[in-house]
Amino acid sequence: LLSLAALSAAGTFLGGCSRGGGNTGLAFTNRLRIPPLATSQTGADGAKRFALTLLPGGRSEFLPGRITMNTWGINGPYLGPTVRAARGDKVRMTVTNRLPETSTLHWHGMRLPARMDGGPHQMIEPGATWTPEWTIDQPATTAWFHPHLHERTALHVYRGLAGLFLIDDPAGPRLPSRYGVDDIPLIVQDKNLDDDGSLPTGGVDEGTFGLLGNTILVNGTYDPFLEVTTELVRFRLLNASNARVYRVGFADNRTFDVVAGDAGPLPGPAPVDRVKISPGERIEFVARFTAGETVVLNSRGEPEKAANDIEEDDFDLLKVVAAGRLAPSDPLPATLGGTATVAAPAGARTRRFALSGSEINDKDMDMTRIDEVVPAGALEIWEIDNTTYAHNFHIHEVAFRILDINGAPPPAYQAGPKDTVFLAKKAKARLLVQFGEFVDPAAPYMYHCHLLRHEDKGMMGQFVIVEPGSEDRIPRTIPGGH
Ligand code: C2O
Ligand code: CU
Repeated sequence: LLSLAALSAAGTFLGGCSRGGGNTGLAFTNRLRIPPLATSQTGADGAKRFALTLLPGGRSEFLPGRITMNTWGINGPYLGPTVRAARGDKVRMTVTNRLPETSTLHWHGMRLPARMDGGPHQMIEPGATWTPEWTIDQPATTAWFHPHLHERTALHVYRGLAGLFLIDDPAGPRLPSRYGVDDIPLIVQDKNLDDDGSLPTGGVDEGTFGLLGNTILVNGTYDPFLEVTTELVRFRLLNASNARVYRVGFADNRTFDVVAGDAGPLPGPAPVDRVKISPGERIEFVARFTAGETVVLNSRGEPEKAANDIEEDDFDLLKVVAAGRLAPSDPLPATLGGTATVAAPAGARTRRFALSGSEINDKDMDMTRIDEVVPAGALEIWEIDNTTYAHNFHIHEVAFRILDINGAPPPAYQAGPKDTVFLAKKAKARLLVQFGEFVDPAAPYMYHCHLLRHEDKGMMGQFVIVEPGSEDRIPRTIPGGH
């Protein structure tokens, strides 16, 4: 039971003022909320210190005049602040758990030692504080953070625990980067809200895919619009839904340029009119607007309607309203710093992962079992063979390239470094995976399906990174599991 103190500690989240008509044909009456930037303090050791507190008992007004009780948030009633730091920064996170139950906070897309990763082993008990620190050393990225408690991730994320972690690279290309002005986060989530505004959570662990919502929130805003004031606007799209897959584009099918995928920049802009994004994935794109126009960003289901429930529905996401005069933007650079797709080296080790209903290689997640032992710095081919309905596949710590999906190279917008790949029904993907150098034979990283119901059911495995040559001597069990 939540106390009144907990309710007021989390404040009230004001998200909505009027209600539209369903999946499409919204009225776009609410200004898109931009998550605040997290403030930091620089300690004596030079580390940037950020404080993130997991809070229950939030009061969020998603639907007009209807308060959704007991949303969860980070430093607020719903979602979290956006953390922004640069390559080369040392960061120290103070993560405090004020929830009535254990949780974790995982840095999705961050390349860091496994004990700092915030996976299922780095549990934070109620009332406790966890203080991971690391030095950021990876290309410019839109990373994010969310709980990863084994068997409870779907519920914790659905209630509202998630936030963006932006990494800038001072040596990277010049892209629009004024946060909230021409650099706009878009955290897309589907919810089921009852008419009274309540957020029933029972379905998150039911059915084949868990809960599929019919109401879209963007940055926690229902029925949103965004005013833009520059010719070029960069959007950072994060699918933070439990299971839905979106095909995002503009209602007039205009072309826009993808500049980065999950784990860093593309070699150059990839023009598209629609992108597919599954849970956990991020896509950065730059769109051009003309003064005075309005255009709707939407999601259109797979036209064949053949795939499955998570890819088929249509949604409006956001109306973009361009000001009567737009400030000129620098032209989009022709090269973005990403390297062109690399071929697999001869003799690269191949590992195979068969995905069934909720298992990987016929195994459920076991916190005490090490499934794979990988030498530090390895470049390996991981073959993912989906034998059933839709899944996706996420690997912690690494960056990978999609070599092929069903034998064909990926579209240009997915050819950059990634950490999560969508696998439609019966799809096969081959990934070229670059592992890092953070050796720790007793602290595993995760790989798993990022459809959160599947992850919770055990569609997850563990790997450790070890000194090359020591693989055969590594214990395959973790005493106690954590
Ligand atoms: Cu976004 Cu293992 O998680
Ligand atoms: Cu799955």
